[in-house]
Amino acid sequence: MSLYRPPRIAASEITPQSYFFSRRSFLVAAAGGALAAAGTPAFAEALTASKTGYTVDETLTPENDVTSYNNFYEFGLGKGDPAANSKNLKPTPWTVKVDGLVGKPKEFGLEELLAMPLEDRVYRMRCVEAWSMVVPWVGFPLSALLDKVEPLGDAKYVAFETVVRPEEMPGQSGYFQSLPWPYVEGLRLDEARHPLAILAVGVYGKTLPNQNGAPIRLVVPWKYGFKGIKSIVKITLTDKQPPSTWNISAPNEYGFYANVNPEVDHPRWSQASENRISEGGFFGANRRPTLPFNGYAEEVAGLYSGMDLRANY
Ligand code: MTE
Repeated sequence: MSLYRPPRIAASEITPQSYFFSRRSFLVAAAGGALAAAGTPAFAEALTASKTGYTVDETLTPENDVTSYNNFYEFGLGKGDPAANSKNLKPTPWTVKVDGLVGKPKEFGLEELLAMPLEDRVYRMRCVEAWSMVVPWVGFPLSALLDKVEPLGDAKYVAFETVVRPEEMPGQSGYFQSLPWPYVEGLRLDEARHPLAILAVGVYGKTLPNQNGAPIRLVVPWKYGFKGIKSIVKITLTDKQPPSTWNISAPNEYGFYANVNPEVDHPRWSQASENRISEGGFFGANRRPTLPFNGYAEEVAGLYSGMDLRANY
């Protein structure tokens, strides 16, 4: 298949180090008490302290759409369910255990994760359902966390797991029960180490709302949105390709790689174009063409050289 080259993304990929350091000290100060700091004005200020970082030259999807049109099946199947049903999820205290094939396994407290070098990243987001958004995330490169645990030479993949709390997540039990829990996802280690792959802790300059995956979620902008696993509690380095929830649930429809590819249709709909949420025209003229790797081909296509991208969907 021939790769279409999208317009160059106008961006400096990496936030200058001086920003990291000033922001980091600000965050540490803000987090000083309990991480009750999350959600307080001091914390919000810390997240908005820098506005540099990776970006795309496109109109941002309004905050209200980003935080009210969601997929988070732990809270129900409808797009409005996560915002309506996630009020009881407690994002603090929180820990993320990183283990498996690593030299230094560790359970990270949220304070430590928020003290990572946070950056603003404006990314396109393309859902496998053929809608898309442009989202201003706040997060840090996943590779920065992996470096801290020192992956061993035989680690080839990274597996992720969402929290299981049926008492706080009504979709994990009873009537709305839909998927096997926990929600799980995976990346190849080189994908996970790519500078575009981030762990997001904020959106629109604030801590993540519960419906967007509080307090920490994965964002991999060249892949369909379902790879962006939310409310992560566990990350495991492994030598085997990890299971992923949608691949387990419907293997004929969703693969492990899930790279955005307009040439490989979903069995039930075309992936050639998409509806940008808030621009209207789901079926109409406003649909825009979907770009290979969601417009990030120049950065990531090299990860897949020699692979049959039609077979590895
Ligand atoms: N993570 C968990 N744990 N549960 C989910 O149902 N849905 C995925 C992904 N991460 C999901 C999840 C899907 S299908 C999409 S499109 C994105 O989250 C949506 O992210 P957003 O609601 O922040 O736009």
